[in-house]
Amino acid sequence: MCGIVGYIGHKDTASILLNGLKELEYRGYDSAGIALLENKNIEIFKAIGKIKNLEEKIKSGEAKATHPKEPANAKFTIGIGHTRWATHGKPTELNAHPHMGEYSYVVHNGIIENYKELKAELESAGHKFLSQTDTEVIVHLFEYYNNKLQDTKAAFKNTIERLQGAYSILLITKEESEKIFFFKHGSPLIIAKGDEEILFSSSDAPLIGLVSQVVYLEDGVGGIADSKGIEFFSDNYSWATLPTSKLTAQKNGFRFFMEKEIYEQSDVVSDSMIGRLSDDEILFDELDENILDGINEIKICACGTSYHAALTASYLFERLAKIRCSVEIASEFRYKEPLLTQETLFVVVSQSGETADTLEALKMAKDAGLKTIVVCNVDNSSMTRVADTTILTRAGIEKGVASTKAFSTQTVVLWIMALFFAKKRDIISKEDLQNEIHALREVPKSLMVDSDIHEKTKRLSKRYLHGHGFFFIGRDVFFPLALEGALKLKEISYLHAEGYPSGEMKHGPIALADTELFTIALMPQHLLYDKVKSNVEELSARDSTICAISPLDFELSDDFIKTQKTDHYMLEFFEMLVVLQLLSMEIAVRLENDVDMPRNLAKSVTVE
Ligand code: M6R
Repeated sequence: MCGIVGYIGHKDTASILLNGLKELEYRGYDSAGIALLENKNIEIFKAIGKIKNLEEKIKSGEAKATHPKEPANAKFTIGIGHTRWATHGKPTELNAHPHMGEYSYVVHNGIIENYKELKAELESAGHKFLSQTDTEVIVHLFEYYNNKLQDTKAAFKNTIERLQGAYSILLITKEESEKIFFFKHGSPLIIAKGDEEILFSSSDAPLIGLVSQVVYLEDGVGGIADSKGIEFFSDNYSWATLPTSKLTAQKNGFRFFMEKEIYEQSDVVSDSMIGRLSDDEILFDELDENILDGINEIKICACGTSYHAALTASYLFERLAKIRCSVEIASEFRYKEPLLTQETLFVVVSQSGETADTLEALKMAKDAGLKTIVVCNVDNSSMTRVADTTILTRAGIEKGVASTKAFSTQTVVLWIMALFFAKKRDIISKEDLQNEIHALREVPKSLMVDSDIHEKTKRLSKRYLHGHGFFFIGRDVFFPLALEGALKLKEISYLHAEGYPSGEMKHGPIALADTELFTIALMPQHLLYDKVKSNVEELSARDSTICAISPLDFELSDDFIKTQKTDHYMLEFFEMLVVLQLLSMEIAVRLENDVDMPRNLAKSVTVE
């Protein structure tokens, strides 16, 4: 994870870096730091926690330059900055980037996998390390080679050759203090040029409005930038034009971004359907007419909430399109030596399009010659640049770390895709297709937040914040929904929760049942109602506290949230989704947790 920025130019370098870091804060907010350089003057500022802490420290003058020897308040034309999601070493100031050697400074996004070996080697050559991070080896390695070769370019290239893992790097050195050395391998990095200035960033958000020309660096591309221009080490790069204005997200009167995003779901799901279905047809222009030629199986790969959307889709692909579908957690898929055949259509699902494991899984499939599709919310993200076909989810910017509207839009888009495939395979009757389309058209209504239900979740949160353990249970597509409900609660309330298929409870987990165990039971009318009811009765008989969510009254529940009666199980699915999102949010609010930026997490997980 982490976000990095860099600047060469004559504007206020510190402000440009801080503004850039604010845009990248979704990538991690354990600590932040900047280094400013002009001639041989360097200043480094670091703070634990969010960027505003760094900014406040700098403004109040409390943030002393941590490099001991240099004068403060010099004019700086070069700077690098970093916002951290800790991987190696606790989130302390010492472990915050930029990391320094004797005369060089580095910011890094990614993981250096062979850092222990490198560190041991450098220590035996006399280098002293200050932090517990993997990153610090980069700067020492650079100085090691530079001291030996007396050539910064050769030293940087030698350094890169020794690094294993995924990384994007910006390095500055007092030896040649007009330059930024950069390299990308596995983690995103963009370089941009403006009027007599050069900027770097992990994503394009900080660059929009400042510059128009960018290079989305490919893996293995690096170089050296200074005020005169950019020297690339290889020629596999191309310039692209950035949009001139950026979309920004505001809370619009809601308490949290997460709350706003829950309330927005109805609208963004409508947007995600535009042009993809008519009153009686599935259109989906983005999908090639012949996409299923030679395909007999679909494999979907994703992480976290996107994985839950994928799991839901697997039920729909098999049920509606009668095509074999398997789903894999991307981090597992990568290392299981999967058998990939060209009869498999490979689909990845990702809000950000940057999740490292999903991106690597996609690359593996692409390298194996499979047809690939990404269902993604961010255009121009790494995955959209790799996949053969991009299906955008149109959820708009999702700021809350706990994903909400990304999930509902992904699920709807995948459902439409299942119908597209069903149509192509000539497997669905006209009448069934009509029913499905009719149900799809009703989804925005099911996603509207009912104020009574929101109030009820607020009331219930008082009791539920004392829960020591939660089971979310459901069957069929309500099992992935149960997983999603449990994930939401864990992420923002820090309460232990598990999602389970309700039929599995008696195979072990029911041993946990007692009054302290809270069970959130998803009991849809249209899918296996009687089966789920029996499963919940078994838990109730063993004293578990039951919160049932259902359109049908259920007398054994301790708490009951009544949903609307509808005529399709997926409409029940979306209505229950909103209930689960609200419930976890309200519990987190009562616990006074940071709803939008929960501890230990980051919005985009760009390390494996
Ligand atoms: O951007 P992606 O959809 O690829 O992200 C995948 C997960 O990291 C993400 O869904 C994560 O689990 C969220 N915090 C869930 O709320």
